Amino acid sequence: MGIFQFKNVSKVFGGLRAIDDVSFSIDQGEIIGLIGPNGAGKTTIFSLASGFTPPTSGKIFFKENRIDGLASDQICKKGLCRTFQVVKPFGDMNVLDNIMVGSLLHTANMKKAQEEALEILYTLGLVGVKEQMGKNLTIADRKRLEIARALATHPKMILLDEVMAGLTSVETREVIEMIRQIQKRNITILLIEHIMQAIMSLSDRIIVIHHGQKISEGNPKAVSNDEQVIKAYLGEEYHELT
Ligand SMILES: Nc1ncnc2c1ncn2[C@@H]1O[C@H](COP(=O)(O)OP(=O)(O)OP(=O)(O)O)[C@@H](O)[C@H]1O
Ligand SMILES: [Mg+2]
Repeated sequence: MGIFQFKNVSKVFGGLRAIDDVSFSIDQGEIIGLIGPNGAGKTTIFSLASGFTPPTSGKIFFKENRIDGLASDQICKKGLCRTFQVVKPFGDMNVLDNIMVGSLLHTANMKKAQEEALEILYTLGLVGVKEQMGKNLTIADRKRLEIARALATHPKMILLDEVMAGLTSVETREVIEMIRQIQKRNITILLIEHIMQAIMSLSDRIIVIHHGQKISEGNPKAVSNDEQVIKAYLGEEYHELT
């Protein structure tokens, strides 16, 4: 059994079946890319996995325990932590304190929390903005802070929702490197991203969601050659490039 599973998970919002009988499994240490058109249900998968909303049916397992039905802070304490597509730093707190909020989930020792926050701050290249208030950060630094705060919770697995959206190509390359550093800490990564070059180079496997259903799963090459994926999402143009 892998570190994380969805088993026949569905989520209905009113009349909309946003997630429709989705099953997949992720092994410890893998980087999995989650792709699909706008509105496919990718962020909903993150909300279900991280306890922000319960599934309508189906089961979710993390480290062989059922986590569906648990609250998001309980799930985060178990080592599964998410970032948000729309980043949400604490605006009136500086960057260091923002990261410390993550550390304080697993320690009540302020000194320890600060040391750890500083270590993450250096690793992710946020040292130059340590004293800046969350609300004054650039998009790129907000995205970095979002990852830093998630890392500070000591995750075993991290859910990254479009952390490269809106970044320049140089910034995107920096985030790709950051994600590789996270993997080196033996943290399993589930990554939603529309930037195909990034997802193809980072992912061990890719899962494709369309209209709430899993339409394909496999290594990047297999998925990018899958007729159904090309039709629903990638388009002929991308296929010809690979
Ligand atoms: N809380 C909610 N209440 C009602 N409908 C919702 C809710 N959250 C998501 N949806 C709907 O579920 C569907 C899937 O949305 P979701 O945000 O998961 O898509 P996505 O794949 O992340 O898209 P994008 O690439 O644009 O971020 C959409 O039709 C969306 O409008
Ligand atoms: Mg989304």
